[in-house]
Amino acid sequence: MTKTIQAIRGMNDYLPSDTSVYQYVENRIKKVLLSYGFSEIRLPVIEPTILFTHAIGDITDVVEKEMYTFNDRRGKSVTLRPEGTAGCVRAGISNGLLYNQEQRLWYMGPMFRYERPQKGRYRQFYQIGAEIFGLQGPDIDADLIMMTARFWKILGISDCIHLELNSIGSLESRKHYNHAIIRLLEKNVQVLDEDCKRRMYSNPLRVLDTKNPAIQALLDNIPPIKNYLDDESYEHFNKLCRLLDITGISYHVNQRLVRGLDYYNNTVFEWVTNSLGAQGTICAGGRYDCLVKLLGGRHTPAIGFAIGLERLVLLVQKTFPEITKPQSIDLYLIAVGKGTEHAMLLLSENLRNELPELKIIQNFGGGNFRKQFSRAHKYGARFVLILGESEIAHHHCIIKNLCNGKQQIVPLSQASYIIRLLLNISKK
Ligand code: HAM
Repeated sequence: MTKTIQAIRGMNDYLPSDTSVYQYVENRIKKVLLSYGFSEIRLPVIEPTILFTHAIGDITDVVEKEMYTFNDRRGKSVTLRPEGTAGCVRAGISNGLLYNQEQRLWYMGPMFRYERPQKGRYRQFYQIGAEIFGLQGPDIDADLIMMTARFWKILGISDCIHLELNSIGSLESRKHYNHAIIRLLEKNVQVLDEDCKRRMYSNPLRVLDTKNPAIQALLDNIPPIKNYLDDESYEHFNKLCRLLDITGISYHVNQRLVRGLDYYNNTVFEWVTNSLGAQGTICAGGRYDCLVKLLGGRHTPAIGFAIGLERLVLLVQKTFPEITKPQSIDLYLIAVGKGTEHAMLLLSENLRNELPELKIIQNFGGGNFRKQFSRAHKYGARFVLILGESEIAHHHCIIKNLCNGKQQIVPLSQASYIIRLLLNISKK
């Protein structure tokens, strides 16, 4: 027997019972994005490797350990995108979308990171991301965060998700903070693990991300990053906090929140849940005012975020377990007897013309009444429409409600009208 071929570890199939929840969540989020004036941008899944090393930073987990990088047939190094911001900026610059104008863009699609898979962490995962270009005030930061808060509200999960907020300051102010970290680490080299030793000089801020408890305890000794912010960064963060206070968005200032990608400055934030175990960050983002210039464009302030869709769907499913129920259909069409299948094929097309909003499935593969009824039940149909030889001869059909067992004989010409009444749907 041939061995069955398995999917690659950490890369999931999304089955119909889940895709219905994904669609539900995605559609709701898209509606909100649209209402805030965002337009969709679709981006390549593969980009030149240099885009990510440049944008995300050489000394980050993503670039050092997690990228799917390979040479194409001409020997050019390409990478499956580990995130969407770099590609969005690249596309914005090469298509002239960013120069001297505001842009609000959103995207959705698969991202790839070679991480150790566990619940909520996969090697292929989906993000919905949004990026705003050309605006630099704290008011747009607040607007963007308020939009994310609205996502949780319309999905009914506001109570199980909270906002972590920080400012990592400008590049200049971060230099001072980096020096403070290096000084502390140099005095305690014996406590450091290999990762931290390597990052100590090349990217000291990254050390704050460490999961090593001994180094975390050590880091408690350095003053918070806010003590190192320059006046402008300090003022930006204060104003943002005030705006969030005014609009009733609760947040927790987390001085350790520095994010794992190098392009950020000033505002950084994460929406976190305690309901999903270790992988609780549902949505993360921040300001990245230097990235457009770094990738070859003109200086353009920018801010954005990305939602990990798998984590969001897990949270929605956990909060509303009933949401995963298989979708039922409205009408199952049963035909028994000579010539009835053809007649049913025509009738089903007419019904779909008249009632495009209904989910209608026709019985295929024959079978007696009992068999066809049992298929209708398996589909969870609300109604069946029955066509036998006698019904065709009299130009009528039978419509049966599978919930209460009531049935009625209906002229074929009025079938769609009666179904509309029975299902209580108004004509558009
Ligand atoms: P990120 O924090 O790397 O940021 O990822 C954003 C979200 O993607 C995470 O909070 C998480 O929900 C989800 N995610 C990340 N890795 C995985 C994984 N291996 N499996 C499942 N979900 C995952 C970014 O990607 C930035 N581009 C966000 C951004 C946009 N910043 C500004 N604009």
